[in-house]
Amino acid sequence: MISIDLSAETYLVTGAAGSIGRAVSRTLATAGAAIIVADLSHGAADDVAAEIVAEGGRAHATAVDITERGSVERAADEGERALGRITGLVNAAGVLRAGAVDELSDDDWATSHAVNATGTFNTTRVVAPRMRTAGSGSIVNLASVAAFSGSDVGSAYHATKGAVLSFTYATAGELAADGIRVNAVCPGWVDGGFTHHALATAADPAALIATANSMHYLGRMATPDDVAGAVVWLMSPLAAFVTGTAVFVDGGYMIKH
Ligand SMILES: NC(=O)c1ccc[n+]([C@@H]2O[C@H](COP(=O)([O-])OP(=O)(O)OC[C@H]3O[C@@H](n4cnc5c(N)ncnc54)[C@H](O)[C@@H]3O)[C@@H](O)[C@H]2O)c1
Repeated sequence: MISIDLSAETYLVTGAAGSIGRAVSRTLATAGAAIIVADLSHGAADDVAAEIVAEGGRAHATAVDITERGSVERAADEGERALGRITGLVNAAGVLRAGAVDELSDDDWATSHAVNATGTFNTTRVVAPRMRTAGSGSIVNLASVAAFSGSDVGSAYHATKGAVLSFTYATAGELAADGIRVNAVCPGWVDGGFTHHALATAADPAALIATANSMHYLGRMATPDDVAGAVVWLMSPLAAFVTGTAVFVDGGYMIKH
């Protein structure tokens, strides 16, 4: 029987009020970790933190805008005052601006990069020195199969997920000497978050669901909990020798495409 005890850990989770961030936060808390529940929406972060506490876990909600380094510093300081030294980071905040390449606006391109790419840079550069002091740490970045494949979803999104993946590899090498591991998780379609945003405006939601399901050999989309399972493993001592890699949680999406 393998059990994961993360009770000595304090993790900053961004996008923690989103579909995947919430599942990650709750699952990590179940394994004992204290969670700094950070999201653009303070109210939604409060709700997730309250859920974790109601389930017997430890959590502190804070508002953060990851596009601003100062906002990340403030959220990290506040979280550490509440829950102790940060020993891990999960970058689950993100945006998806869809559209054909000649229809994406300057704002679509800039915002995609500001949140997905620069946001990951900001959180990493704020948290890495704190983990370096502790002598160990783990970072998981939400990338996507979009970093490896094409689609008609939106080139801005694909470009930023490629950036997240390359940044993961680079920082894994750079921070290894400090005992800090950095990995990426790459889901296919997830039944939540961005997929639900797309379904809300789809002309034929049932057809979109059927198409999304059929893109995975396992015949369905991932659940947010499927993604959370991989994140918990990467954050845990079970993955002590795993760094600079991309873990696919894609039901066979990549080998089908
Ligand atoms: N849903 C999918 O199908 C899917 C597939 C592959 C990868 N991903 C990745 O997983 C991550 C989470 O996606 P999701 O589906 O849970 O989306 P979601 O929309 O449910 O959650 C995203 C969260 O990020 C927060 N956020 C946005 N901008 C922010 C900012 N500037 N600062 C702080 N927080 C901010 C939002 O408030 C939201 O709570 C993203 O990085 C996404 O690229 C999602």
